[in-house]
Amino acid sequence: MPDLSEFPEDFVWGAATSAYQIEGAVAEDGRLPSIWDTFSRVPGAVANGDTGDVACDHYHRSSEDVALMRSLGLGAYRFSVAWPRIVPTGSGPVNARGLAFYDRLVDELLAAGIRPFATLYHWDLPQGLQDVGGWTSRATAERFAEYAGAVAAALGDRVTDWTTLNEPLCSAWIGHLEGRMAPGLTDLEAAVRASYHLLLGHGLATQAIRAEAPRTPQVGYVVNLSPIEPASDRLEDVAAAVRADGHVNRWWLDPVHGRGFPADMRELYGVDLPERSGDLAVIAQPLDYLGINYYFRQIVTADPDGPAPYARQLPVPGSPVTGMDWEVYPDGLEELLVRAAAEYGARRLYVTESGAAWPDTVDADGEVRDAERTAYLEGHLAACGRALARGVPLAGHFAWSLLDNFEWAYGYAHRFGLVHVDYETQRRTMKDSGRRYAALIAEHAALRAAERTPAS
Ligand code: FCB
Repeated sequence: MPDLSEFPEDFVWGAATSAYQIEGAVAEDGRLPSIWDTFSRVPGAVANGDTGDVACDHYHRSSEDVALMRSLGLGAYRFSVAWPRIVPTGSGPVNARGLAFYDRLVDELLAAGIRPFATLYHWDLPQGLQDVGGWTSRATAERFAEYAGAVAAALGDRVTDWTTLNEPLCSAWIGHLEGRMAPGLTDLEAAVRASYHLLLGHGLATQAIRAEAPRTPQVGYVVNLSPIEPASDRLEDVAAAVRADGHVNRWWLDPVHGRGFPADMRELYGVDLPERSGDLAVIAQPLDYLGINYYFRQIVTADPDGPAPYARQLPVPGSPVTGMDWEVYPDGLEELLVRAAAEYGARRLYVTESGAAWPDTVDADGEVRDAERTAYLEGHLAACGRALARGVPLAGHFAWSLLDNFEWAYGYAHRFGLVHVDYETQRRTMKDSGRRYAALIAEHAALRAAERTPAS
């Protein structure tokens, strides 16, 4: 159980989603396809042939969804802006009709007392840019900054909390090396180039947001990290863990913190970085915050015949797992938060995603009894409390996700929501875990209010 007395008064209690996973309306108001519209149509790429065409139909139901957030008592909502709505081909003029959707959403959130946290890239690259090289091309980083600046100029009078990229690891490594996500490539050189341009895009977009936003913005960057442990104390496994840590964690943390790209990993990839002078300083723009998405730890063994980084994740015998077969390991979250603060000097951290999938159903009485997700939530919030007690500057927590949604290559089979979605009827049903989250948020507020009121 989380010790709520450890959570500061202004702790941000939120939930997160992303555009392609919930919005639907993929051909409306001038939106053109993203790489996920394309990828989800590749036979066998997504389970069950699912696509984001309709998803949670959030594009037409945002008011209902904001009302749900309000009933949860959320203080903040982390959503992503769909680049292919704003600049449909990826370059050229801004599409006012696409922007209007987010303009309304932001107003509705603010009217409900909910602070908007806008992410500019949650994987939905305009297909028009993919057609000319996507993230393997430097021009994509430049187009990203232009788009980011345009959104900041339009919404930055009301939105102050911005994220450039969500989980660039997935875009680069899973999308270009493992091929399990859009654009579906399996090419190490393309993956390393993409990783470089994503990070450059982050730096350029950070500058653009700061230049364009009418109110002083808080600009952050969101990574998915995993604690890495060797499967044995054999030297080859210990070395594999160092490589996996480089691939999963350091490659994404070092450059943005001014440390450049890790030398051991540069050597391991053996790919020349498309570096120009001045780039490293752009990539290392000071961050207002670092967002950590945490799902699982990785126990790894050496895998000389596998893809880079030649380390393979093994299941952890006897550990509980979620419906995704991901280990439930809350201590890993505490460990990552402490590492970000101690090793990288993070001055403000958010848990920008934490959550778990299970195959929930709505019972005959209309309830969703998701006891496992409730325990998962409590366990991970308890880890946040322990990190706070150790002095980590953790400013907030966003549950993944507000709604069940399109879980990328897994389609709709895996449900992460605090709120259940019936995809046939689009009916939303609050799960027990959502009620528990709301109760914790209310308890924290009551605790803080009691502290402010001196006992008579
Ligand atoms: C993260 C993604 C998010 C969601 C969760 C389960 O990697 O950022 O979109 O798919 O995993």
